[in-house]
Amino acid sequence: MKRMLKTILVCLALVTMVAGIAACGTKKTEGKFNPGTYEGTAKGHGGEVKAKVTVTADKITEIVIDAPNETEGIGSGAAKAVIENIMNSQSLAVDTVSGATVSSTAMIAAITAALEKAGADIEALKKATATTPAAKQEDLSTDIVIIGAGGAGMSAAVEAATAGKKVIIVEKMPIVGGNTTRATGGMNAAETSIQAAAGITDTKETFYNDTMKGGKEKNDPALLQTLVDNAAAAVDWINELGGDLKRVTLSGGATNPRIHTPVDGSAVGPVVIKVLSAKLEALKVEIMLNTEATKILTKDGAAVGIEAKDENGNPFKIEAKAVIIATGGFGANSEMVEGFRPDLVGFSTTNHKGATGDGIVMAQAVGADLTDIGEIQIHPTTDPETGYMFTEGLRGDGAILINAEGKRFTDELLTRDVVSANILKQTDGIAYLITNEEMRAENASLAGYVKKGYAVEAATLADLAKELGMDAAVLEETMATYAEAVKSGKDAEFNRTHLTKSLEEGPYFALKVTPGIHHTMGGLKIDTTTHVIGTDGKAIAGLYAAGEVVGGVHGANRIGGNAVTDIIVFGKIAGQIAAEEMK
Ligand code: FAD
Ligand code: FUM
Repeated sequence: MKRMLKTILVCLALVTMVAGIAACGTKKTEGKFNPGTYEGTAKGHGGEVKAKVTVTADKITEIVIDAPNETEGIGSGAAKAVIENIMNSQSLAVDTVSGATVSSTAMIAAITAALEKAGADIEALKKATATTPAAKQEDLSTDIVIIGAGGAGMSAAVEAATAGKKVIIVEKMPIVGGNTTRATGGMNAAETSIQAAAGITDTKETFYNDTMKGGKEKNDPALLQTLVDNAAAAVDWINELGGDLKRVTLSGGATNPRIHTPVDGSAVGPVVIKVLSAKLEALKVEIMLNTEATKILTKDGAAVGIEAKDENGNPFKIEAKAVIIATGGFGANSEMVEGFRPDLVGFSTTNHKGATGDGIVMAQAVGADLTDIGEIQIHPTTDPETGYMFTEGLRGDGAILINAEGKRFTDELLTRDVVSANILKQTDGIAYLITNEEMRAENASLAGYVKKGYAVEAATLADLAKELGMDAAVLEETMATYAEAVKSGKDAEFNRTHLTKSLEEGPYFALKVTPGIHHTMGGLKIDTTTHVIGTDGKAIAGLYAAGEVVGGVHGANRIGGNAVTDIIVFGKIAGQIAAEEMK
């Protein structure tokens, strides 16, 4: 379930409010505003967004946004950017925040409503005013430059800064987090203390074998072994930094429950980004937002920095002793996806806008080799309209899939390539994920989908069938057969072995789903210590890569929950090794 965004207060100017300030809502006398504090509201992604705006006669002095229902990480990043932009420009001539359009639009609307009450001339505030010419970023110098502020880049930065190195992260989006903020279902690890406490028996060997089987034996064995060996420590690390990944459930293709999630079943990614952000702040690591790396600079074959564009589009350079590429995958770059996989034309994507494969292009330009580049995963359960992903964790917790005729058609916990293929064989290539109130009460992610209006709700199966336009008798028969399978522990129809919820009691929730582009398994070739390997088979000096930009770890098909582990494990290694080897 999405974590709730707490009240965010950003006060960029401390102003002593003078006596005699006009009360809220009074008619403007002179100046731009009637001094005071005013509230405005607007509808966001998950509910109401409130803004409290304090103004003097001529200045907006404080904005507080309360957006408890926006996705944590996305919402808080958007609030910070919106507030800074409005405070700095003292106007409403600001853009929405890329990657958080719905939330930031609501925040701007709520602030506008508050300013309207302050008697402001809204049209005048919306007109961009001529300001001082856009500043140009000076060239910089650092020990280690990291491209990308997602989970891999931030983990690398924590380790490098902890080793005493000066680190700069460049991030092209206005907020940190990338696809990591979107990660929902959890983080895999075997032989963890959390599994032991829950009485779950699991081994690293089974984890390795499940992943190799899921990846169709295409995984790089050494990279996979590194992932498996360091996974439990990675979960502990996130928890030591303040995470609460203490609940374990099952993901598709896993023999045993090993996917670690926050205790309330909410999304894993916002927690990871929150704890890493806090640690980087404590370590005083500089993150340059709205800053896009465009080129890796080399000297005598070694990486010596990057060229980038500042927030105003001006080019500048960062000289560094090591460069870590952590730019994520290319699932949002349809041209690149379709170029490598013409069969994937027309699919929507679950990815954030910045997942465009820049790191692959930049590294190739300095001689990097690629591996498994055509291996692209589609996720079985995404919203057919928007591509919004519904976590596999729901199936792990007990949800089932039915087709438009009201019949089950697959073991829901097979690997996602197989489940996706089975959905695409159904009428219109869609299916319904069936859950109930018992599941909603236990899974914060499901509660969020219901609240956001994605689910069709019905008190009984007959009502649900009516809502979905299917034969009630068929649906009732399907559900009765499944309930029997759960009770007897044997699913004679599809051989599902993880049988937890009989789903006999309503109310019911149905999510309409179809597969969408989700993960790019291929990417840069690295060794187990994250050196980028060139087409000549040798490591490129000073160049490291970690996270979804890398290929080889997941083979031909990633198991759900393995990417978050991948980015933390290899992100940490990249930071440590770059710090150790830098000259
Ligand atoms: P990202 O987190 O995407 O970060 C890369 C960053 O680099 C981005 O912020 C991007 O803007 C930035 N960047 C890119 N190019 C440039 C440039 N030129 N200059 C500067 N910055 C740049 N995996 C799991 O294991 N468990 C899950 O539950 C899970 N759920 C998921 C749900 C969704 C909806 C999605 C999309 C993915 C999910 N995944 C999950 C996969 C996982 O989240 C990603 O593989 C992983 O987070 C990638 O991390 P990363 O650090 O490599 O990249
Ligand atoms: O379904 C999910 O929660 C996604 C998990 C993953 O991509 O690993």
